[in-house]
Amino acid sequence: MCGIVGYIGKRDVAPLLLEGLARLEYRGYDSAGMVITSPKGTGLKMVKAKGRVRDLEARVPKRFAGTTGIAHTRWATHGAPSDHNAHPHMDPGDKVAVVHNGIVDNASELRAKLEADGVVFASETDTEVLTHLIARSQAFSLEEKVREALKVVEGTYGIAVMHADFSDRIVVARNGSPVVLGVGEKEMFVASDVAALVAHTRQVVTLNDGEMATLKADDFRTYTTTGTRTTATPETVEWEAASYDMGGHDTYMHKEISEQADAVDRVLRGRIDDRFSTVHLGGLNLDARAARGIRRVKILGCGTSYHAGLIGAGLIESLARVPADSEPASEFRYRNPVVDPDTLYIAVSQSGETYDVLAAVQELKRKGARVLGVVNVVGSAIARETDGGVYVHAGPEVCVVSTKCFTNTVVAFALLALHLGRIRDLSVADGKRIIEGLRRLPAQISEILESEDEIRKLADEYADAKSMMFIGRVRGYPVALEASLKLKEISYIHAEAYPASELKHGPLALIEPALPTVAIVPDDELLEKNRAALEEIKARSGRILAVAHQEQERADHTILVPKNEDELDPILMGIPLQLFAYHTALALGRDIDKPRNLAKSVTVE
Ligand code: F6R
Repeated sequence: MCGIVGYIGKRDVAPLLLEGLARLEYRGYDSAGMVITSPKGTGLKMVKAKGRVRDLEARVPKRFAGTTGIAHTRWATHGAPSDHNAHPHMDPGDKVAVVHNGIVDNASELRAKLEADGVVFASETDTEVLTHLIARSQAFSLEEKVREALKVVEGTYGIAVMHADFSDRIVVARNGSPVVLGVGEKEMFVASDVAALVAHTRQVVTLNDGEMATLKADDFRTYTTTGTRTTATPETVEWEAASYDMGGHDTYMHKEISEQADAVDRVLRGRIDDRFSTVHLGGLNLDARAARGIRRVKILGCGTSYHAGLIGAGLIESLARVPADSEPASEFRYRNPVVDPDTLYIAVSQSGETYDVLAAVQELKRKGARVLGVVNVVGSAIARETDGGVYVHAGPEVCVVSTKCFTNTVVAFALLALHLGRIRDLSVADGKRIIEGLRRLPAQISEILESEDEIRKLADEYADAKSMMFIGRVRGYPVALEASLKLKEISYIHAEAYPASELKHGPLALIEPALPTVAIVPDDELLEKNRAALEEIKARSGRILAVAHQEQERADHTILVPKNEDELDPILMGIPLQLFAYHTALALGRDIDKPRNLAKSVTVE
């Protein structure tokens, strides 16, 4: 959410910043801007535009030379998308430029004080207070000016600051919003995500909360916001620049859906232990005695990750026989939950940055709870804040809506459930059965993806619906929830998900020919119950698209999915519905990778 990129070195900076912004655009795309300068001290030059990075590019003047710069792509929080609300924000004297990711909670109070002192604001943003505070500081160094400003600011930030009188450096700081430094040969980069850096360097330093850094062309140093030096050793990023490209697909979403067989293979690789019919999860940090002592599991995530957590809870309950549930982290943190020492808390997040999840983890840790992470981005805030966990190894996910990360997260939960189960009461035979099922997944995913043409035709047929109902029962219900979220996010068709068992308690009133129902109908112990729900819908002339292991007589159309073990079926049943959402959105001409009003990595409340 909001992307920051900065560079200091010898290269022409504007094209570099534009390229970095394009790679970060999934973090926000309502406006963009940059400020640049040259070592000769030619002052700060700024260009900003409402809209996409391409709109900014069109505005960059012909003579816009410089070798140091900071840039930003915005997802609006305070102030509507507009040229003047776009970052960077500069002071009236054109000395200071700031880009910011996060929210200044006490912005109105600070703004009122500054206005009372005669400061005239040029935007409605919370960020601008930082600019004025830095510009008005009497401190001698830029570092000290920034530090003074941050002292009075409450909230979250990842910032990059330039100053016309200190044109040999960029000063950055982090509190709650990611800041990554990229270390090159006589050049330094900064970004809110490695995606913007890997084309130039794979040597990165991730700042901790409460840390600042000064970047010069040939050097960087890190220190705390209170001024104490810290040590930072660059680490090598796992993924190459090509992993962030579209790889011949028309959209990132399509690429990421297509990658799922390989991604699942990756999350399984090196973890299965056939000798004991279990799995090794090296980073879990939970010995057998502690695992046996767990009385409950509480999973916390947001959006798609919350849905993955629902399937995960089902897996843990059925394989490890521990009561488990999943709750939106955003709700959990505000209801003063009872924190129980025998409960294992699991934070789920693809980005590892989602503020609501991070805040829930911090609150739990403060209360002495044991918290594990199921996270995709290695070294992300949530991964670092938790006591251990499982990386989902889905690879970079660029499309705003999650697909392969969802699937891999659920597989990671299956591994965790199997691990906990085999420590507790799951038999060797059942362990073996689940392992064999897990091994079948990649080939079965490829088989599902081969039916894309058929799914596209169905999507074309249903794309005129104004609203859709998704139903499933027990294991199928989270699949329905996730499929309905996917459809609404990228097609903007209203969609609702209900447990099939609840239909007659209300939503059946909605059923009519104009409201199609997508039904998840696995061949499991609930098959007949699910069929009864289809009968009820058909009796009210509802159209039905079933996702099932065998043709469903009452459905108008059935998408057939290969059968796995009952517990693992939800992993496969969601995949055709990702393609269904994708092709529906395509038929409606939507901007699939950048759905309106959304951004990836929600680093604000
Ligand atoms: C939907 C989607 C979001 C995210 C949610 C949490 O397709 O991707 O619902 O799942 O914003 O994000 P993470 O998983 O990064 O914590």
